[in-house]
Amino acid sequence: SIVYLDGQWLPADKAKVSVFDRGFLFGDSVYEVVVVYNRQPFRLEQHLSRLSRSLEETGIPNPLGLHEWRFLIERLIDQNEGDHQSIYIQVTRGVTESRTHNYPTNITPTVFAVSKPISSKSTDTRLNPSCSAILLEDIRWSRGDIKSTSLLGSVLLKKVVYESGKDEGILHRDGFITEGTASNIFIVSQGAIVTPELSEWILTGITRDFIFELANRYNVPIESRPVSVVELTQADEVWLTSSTAELRAITELDDKPVGNGNIGPMWQRMAELYQRHKA
Ligand code: PDD
Repeated sequence: SIVYLDGQWLPADKAKVSVFDRGFLFGDSVYEVVVVYNRQPFRLEQHLSRLSRSLEETGIPNPLGLHEWRFLIERLIDQNEGDHQSIYIQVTRGVTESRTHNYPTNITPTVFAVSKPISSKSTDTRLNPSCSAILLEDIRWSRGDIKSTSLLGSVLLKKVVYESGKDEGILHRDGFITEGTASNIFIVSQGAIVTPELSEWILTGITRDFIFELANRYNVPIESRPVSVVELTQADEVWLTSSTAELRAITELDDKPVGNGNIGPMWQRMAELYQRHKA
């Protein structure tokens, strides 16, 4: 694949970053994942504005303007194969002369972007609907609202999930649900869609926002508020959302069926709307 690195377009194996890049040394960097359907980026505007916020919160100057970002993404899509793609964008604070925690303010951020094709199966949520999950204590840091590449907590948790043979970990803190290891979590309870309210513990998912938009538009009751572990285990339906997973039903939680163990009617309805409006 052809990747973008600091103003250059290169084959992936020719793209090299310094060992003193702070992204490498400290995880001092932020990222975005954007999906492309039929060669069009989905919700690019929202992803770029979240990227801009992550940079602001981190004190990394945004290296590109909105038009430059758009142009970069368009070129990346053009130069890579696949009608459907998953794009990864990373901005690190840049390279320093030696390793020091404190950073000078005059360094140039490193910008990297890569695309990979995704199968059409993973672009229609209805073809790949259900999955399993386990509950895990949220061991991550308290700025989950920043989409940072400092992901050791998520990586360690995901390993536990993988070894359990399940698909995702639902994380909780002080008895309440935060999010998944790489997704936002929703439940259906008493006919309404419920998801944990935004806080410094969770990411403002672009897909999460999309679900709110769809629900509001079609008058489906939806609210964001604290969701306890107890409420989760008694829910009629549990879902996860992310750009790449779209909307998936979690039908098994800690080896027990969620609701009656089948995909629920609310999921069916929202997945239908998702598919219809995502283009
Ligand atoms: N993950 N929460 C976390 C911790 C995430 O990593 C993600 C996305 C989400 C969902 O966000 P969105 O709907 O904007 O994709 C929530 C990406 C896809 C990843 O890490 O690959």
